[in-house]
Amino acid sequence: MTTSKGHYYLGLQQATALSNSGLTLRRTCNAIAKVIAKSMGMTGCRVLLLNPKNEYLTTVGSFGLSDLYLRKGPLDARKSLPEVLEGEIAIVSHAPSDERVQHPEVAESQHVVTIIASPIIRGSDVIGQVRVYSRQERSLSDLDQEFLRAIGNLCAVVLDKAELSQFKERVKRNCAKAPRQVLPAHVPSTPLKPTEFAHESEAEFAHLLDFYQIEWLYEPRSFPLAWNGDGISQMFTPDFYLPELDMYVELTTMKQDLITSKNRKVRKLREMYPDINVRLLTRKDFARLLAKYGYGPLGEAKVAGVGRVLFSQTQIKRKVRSLARRISKDYVGQRIVMIGVLKGVMCFMSDLMQQISLPVKTDYMDISHYGGDGDIVKITRDLDCSIAGKHVLMVEDIVDTGMTLNYLLTHLESHRPASLRVCSLLDRKQRRLANVKLDYVGFEIADEFVVGYGLDYHGEYRNLPFIGTLQEEKGD
Ligand code: IMP
Ligand code: MG
Repeated sequence: MTTSKGHYYLGLQQATALSNSGLTLRRTCNAIAKVIAKSMGMTGCRVLLLNPKNEYLTTVGSFGLSDLYLRKGPLDARKSLPEVLEGEIAIVSHAPSDERVQHPEVAESQHVVTIIASPIIRGSDVIGQVRVYSRQERSLSDLDQEFLRAIGNLCAVVLDKAELSQFKERVKRNCAKAPRQVLPAHVPSTPLKPTEFAHESEAEFAHLLDFYQIEWLYEPRSFPLAWNGDGISQMFTPDFYLPELDMYVELTTMKQDLITSKNRKVRKLREMYPDINVRLLTRKDFARLLAKYGYGPLGEAKVAGVGRVLFSQTQIKRKVRSLARRISKDYVGQRIVMIGVLKGVMCFMSDLMQQISLPVKTDYMDISHYGGDGDIVKITRDLDCSIAGKHVLMVEDIVDTGMTLNYLLTHLESHRPASLRVCSLLDRKQRRLANVKLDYVGFEIADEFVVGYGLDYHGEYRNLPFIGTLQEEKGD
């Protein structure tokens, strides 16, 4: 398979447009990966980011690779084609038998024969790689190499842009709006992933976001809050920025008296910078978030049983019927594939599908959760059928942080369905940390853990016919 200059010109043109499209980092990289694979006549591609210590590579965007391939998790940068760390382009002509390939058995089962890896270089540092995969033998021409070098430069700019450009823009906007003529807010250049955190909880939070592949930046921006003559006398630097949600997150897991002063600062920040979306995550909030995964200080909390009934069996029935009616109307004349996420969704999905008056197919997926095995979320049960060109309705019991759904949607999108919508029985908006659009929602709920109608606490309570809260055990 050879590729002409014209192909590459078109590819670069598309990739350049994508780099300037305003899509999120992951979506940009997914789309660029597709352009690269198509331009080179290859089966798949991924854009990988190297951690600052040059130890491992994580996927920021991919195209055409089976889940099994992506599921391998981060790659060991020193074992897998290490010459790329030195800035070289590497080619593997027979992946199943090449010792530089970290998982030859996966390559074999996926019929991957050729792998080409090319560095992404910022200044003089290798910060990532572009890898392309083919099921045929493939040589590497000068033209291929020129294309890969050009794409590598573009990817470096895309990664840079994700890091900085949004902040610069906001600084400009906020300077115009600031209550006084002030110095521009401080925008330090930050590494994409710092290795040092001020507190353990920050590292834990970053770990959680990494697990679900949610992009984040650490302390990317400081907001001046008070001035003294020409100088800034008070400043606030939120811990995290999540570009996908355009949200700053401040973790307050320290002493209670410090929380009061932090609260005051956050309030001031909201007053002075009303466009800035900042969220305070207290120690309790954070513990609750981890507890959901059976983890952290609240993970093992004892409960006495069910507290209040939030939604009765009748209320649920009525809601399910009305959701099904809307869905049947929206998809009229079409066939849909309903995909449920195990296990919480079982009651809702089975009731919902019975009320839908269209031809329906069902399938189920499951993914690993934080606090279990592995550093990165994995699909533990994949689809049985192909969804390419199909109308897919993803069904969820509850969307909380949105991280599960966000991951699954990215995965499903890569299978190119004709359409992809989401129906969730419950929506707990306040805790959202990933940007997911819900097309059909049953009930919005407050920040309270719920059980019943499929939802569990440590595996129990799924069989309750209603949805209720849990009663904490007295004395705890
Ligand atoms: P997310 O990734 O944070 O949106 O979490 C989604 C998953 O966490 C859901 O599919 C549930 O399995 C589980 N979950 C979240 N909140 C609750 C709850 O209040 N009760 C039971 N399970 C929950
Ligand atoms: Mg679930």
